[in-house]
Order: sequence, then C-alpha cells, then structure tokens
Amino acid sequence: MKVLVTGGSGFIGTNLLRYILENRSDWSVVNLDLLTYAGNLENTMDLADAYPGRYEFVKGDIADHACVDALFSRHSFDLVLNLAAESHVDRSIEDSGIFVRTNILGVQVLLDAARRHKVGRFLHVSTDEVYGSLGKEGRFREDFHLEPNSPYSASKAAGDLLVRSYVKTHGLDAVVTRCSNNYGPYQFPEKLIPLMVINAFNDRDLPVYGEGRNVRDWIFVDDHCRGIVMVAENGRCGEAYNMGGDAEKENIQIVRLILGNLAKPDSLIRFVTDRPGHDFRYAMDFAKIEAELGWQPEFGFDEGLKKTIAWYLDNQSWWEKILSGTYRHYYERMYGSR
Ligand code: NAD
Ligand code: TYD
Repeated sequence: MKVLVTGGSGFIGTNLLRYILENRSDWSVVNLDLLTYAGNLENTMDLADAYPGRYEFVKGDIADHACVDALFSRHSFDLVLNLAAESHVDRSIEDSGIFVRTNILGVQVLLDAARRHKVGRFLHVSTDEVYGSLGKEGRFREDFHLEPNSPYSASKAAGDLLVRSYVKTHGLDAVVTRCSNNYGPYQFPEKLIPLMVINAFNDRDLPVYGEGRNVRDWIFVDDHCRGIVMVAENGRCGEAYNMGGDAEKENIQIVRLILGNLAKPDSLIRFVTDRPGHDFRYAMDFAKIEAELGWQPEFGFDEGLKKTIAWYLDNQSWWEKILSGTYRHYYERMYGSR
C-alpha cells in the first residue's frame, strides 16, 4: 500500500505516522507537510532510518495545485489520509484567511488530485467542532446538522462537506472522521494541555478562559490514530465516523489535575477574558464506529494525562526549542543547501 499522509509533521500526524509504520508493515508512507509554525521536522527525523524505504518527507502545500499534482503523478497512491490543516481556534479568530485557504481550498485541491489520479480511497480528518456547541445534555451524532461557530470549525465543516460532495457527484471513495479534543506527545504548546503543563512546570500563570466551565471530551492521540486506520481500512464509503475519549472534563478540572500531578499550587491559575464565541460543550456519541468497526478508546483520561505529562517532562528540549523558535532551524540545516 502506498499512502499519502498530509500534515504528518504536526501533532496527530506525527503520532499517526509512527502508528502506521509500527503496525502496518506493508504500508509505505509519503508525508506532505508545509512546515508551518505547527509543523516540526524533528518530530519525524528518525523515521527514514528506522523504516528504510518506507518513509519519505516532501515539503509542500496541499493548496498548491502544481505541487500536489506533481506528487500524485510521481506516486500512485492507494490511500490519502488528510490531516494537514490550520488547527487552532484562537488563531482563526485573529486571522481566518489562512484557515480558508488550507482547510477548504487545500481539501478541494487534494480531492481533485485524488479523482484525477484514481486514488483508491480518501480519508479526511474532520473534527467534532463542526457540530457546534452542546448544552449540558446530549452527545453529537453523525446525523446532526453541522453548526460550526468559529472560523476554524466553519472552515473544517466546509472541507468535510466538500468530501461528501465528491462522493455524491464524482463517485470518489472517501470517508470522514470527526474526533474530539486530542492530547498526547508532540502537541504544539498553544493548546490547553501542553500549554498548562509547560507553564506549571515553569511556575508561570495558567490562563483559563472565562470561568473554566467549558467542557471538552478528551481522547489520547493513540486511540484517534488507531481509529483513523480502522476507518481507512473498513469504513463505508461516504460515511462520517465520530470518535471520542468518553472523558468529558471542564477546563478547570484539567488545569487542577495538571497542577496536582506536578505538585504546583492552584494560585498559578489566572482567569482571563473569555474566547469570543467560545463553544460551551463537546461530547461524542461513537456508537456507530463501535458497532461497525469495533473501535473504542482504550486509554482512560488519568492514564493518558500521566503519560502526556511524563512525555513533556522527558522531552524538555523539544518544547524549549519551540518556545525559543529554534525548532525552525532544523529544516534549514537539513535541506537549506540541497
Ligand atoms: P497541527 O496544527 O499540530 O498540525 C497541522 C500540520 O499540518 C502541521 O504539520 C502543518 O505544518 C501542516 N500544514 C498546515 N498547513 C498546511 C498546508 N497548507 N499544506 C501542507 N501541510 C500543512 O494539527 P493537529 O492537532 O495535528 O490536527 C491534525 C488534523 O486533525 C487537523 O485536520 C485537525 O483539524 C484535526 N483534528 C484535530 C484535533 C485536535 O484535538 N488536535 C481534534 C480533531 C480533529
Ligand atoms: P484548545 O486546546 O484551544 O482546543 P479547542 O478550542 O479546539 O477545544 O482549548 C481547549 C479548551 O481550553 C477550550 O475550551 C479553550 C480553553 N483554553 C483555556 O481556557 N486557556 C487557554 O490558554 C487555551 C489555549 C484554551
């Protein structure tokens, strides 16, 4: 199997590449990544040597038609796993243009290439945020209307629906996954859990939006990666599949758990102005993927959080290079003069 993973140098992509290379010995993978601020080539620099002949990195933009077409001409992909995206809600509030370009135009360029080059299957990684926000009760099901509230989730909803349209209109074999909030190793420290771990470690304030009562359903990233591969292999064409961690938490609970794990005082918590349009609650009904594919999350939240905190403590130089900006020098060193 020849597989294209886009966005493989980001958080979930890095974990997914490792999962695939370890667990699918007959798959070889090309990682197409633009290396935006969220992409870190060091995350995957060991893979080419660890899995000879099975891993290749290509720097490029999913929204660049010529780049994507040349790549699809060079390789005959059996499967495309599209993870490349602008992924941070707060950045989309500041400037949504790049979200529209990557998360909508990028998906369209990839879908057209998949169609023209007769790719076997296309899997698009969408998000629970396309459903909008829940009140205190209920869980998102796949048949819910999409009601996104942030420029990020609106751009993801558009990409998600473009995939649907290529199935219906062009007969493309495509599937969509919608997953809840991931956490685990290699997550960029702008997202809640790594940000709070690092700030607590450094005795800096932990900025909690509003009153910290917003609820997210947290899934350990390995569970998501396993589900992506299962849907790619056995999901039904044209269907969307929810995944979640069965671990709903208020933000303030998470922050307190992190402080407790690191033996730091609650006095580090600082309540700050709320995010505009802040979705109150996400919760996932994943009965469909459970019934059809036998997927369930395997990691409990306490176990996953402990593993995650341990990873950030063991990999201090990884996040220090991000905070200082020097992680971006790696690409220049490796490829700058080639
Ligand atoms: P991330 O921001 O950590 O990584 C995104 C990666 O995409 C980076 O390596 C970046 O360089 C790359 N990229 C960005 N624009 C690109 C472009 N135009 N062309 C090629 N590469 C580009 O994101 P993540 O958290 O790993 O999320 C991966 C996917 O999963 C996204 O599609 C996101 O919407 C989705 N998702 C994330 C979560 C979560 O909690 N993190 C939950 C559900 C779904
Ligand atoms: P985030 O990790 O940005 O994921 P998303 O917005 O996609 O769910 O945020 C998770 C929750 O944590 C969300 O309710 C916003 C909140 N949050 C804070 O309270 N403080 C912060 O500094 C960040 C980054 C997030």
